[in-house]
Amino acid sequence: MKTLVAYFSAEGTTAAVARALAEAAGADTFEIKPELPYTAADLKWTNPLARCNREKLGGKFVPVEGKAEGFSDYGVVMLGFPIWYYGAPNIINTFCRDYDWTGKKVYIFATSGGSGIGKTAEKLAPYLKGAQIADARVVRSASELGEWIKAE
Ligand SMILES: Cc1cc2nc3c(=O)[nH]c(=O)nc-3n(C[C@H](O)[C@H](O)[C@H](O)COP(=O)(O)O)c2cc1C
Repeated sequence: MKTLVAYFSAEGTTAAVARALAEAAGADTFEIKPELPYTAADLKWTNPLARCNREKLGGKFVPVEGKAEGFSDYGVVMLGFPIWYYGAPNIINTFCRDYDWTGKKVYIFATSGGSGIGKTAEKLAPYLKGAQIADARVVRSASELGEWIKAE
């Protein structure tokens, strides 16, 4: 079964983990990018009017640039993102909503400033219809995910 590492990273931390994970797992990658890139000002969550806060409060879907080619060929998807407001950024809801997850095994990894994974997987589940969520973790490096690679 082919494995895809699909990830969103606003500031580079999750991207580094995702690339190392893909390399170790021999997986393909798809970077989930917003059609409208985030600027540093957009991410200033201390500013109530910043884009990140407006998206969060408005429950907005965030349009994703491009499509993951051949998505239906992947049996396993490792989905990575930074923890935003104790869960997945809205762009992850958008990405998940747009594909058919039936029969796929999904591993969720996140980086954070200190928060744990909390209810991140439960909150994402409605957008991952038909998938089996095998695990969900906050990590600092791909070396913490050796078990996943061994299992696949
Ligand atoms: C809008 C926003 C919200 C965040 N919310 C949280 C949070 O709830 N808990 C936490 O520990 N870190 C939070 N962070 C910090 C990020 O999760 C952390 O810096 C992450 O490693 C960034 O990954 P990236 O470089 O791939 O974007 C937040 C960062 C941003 C920009």
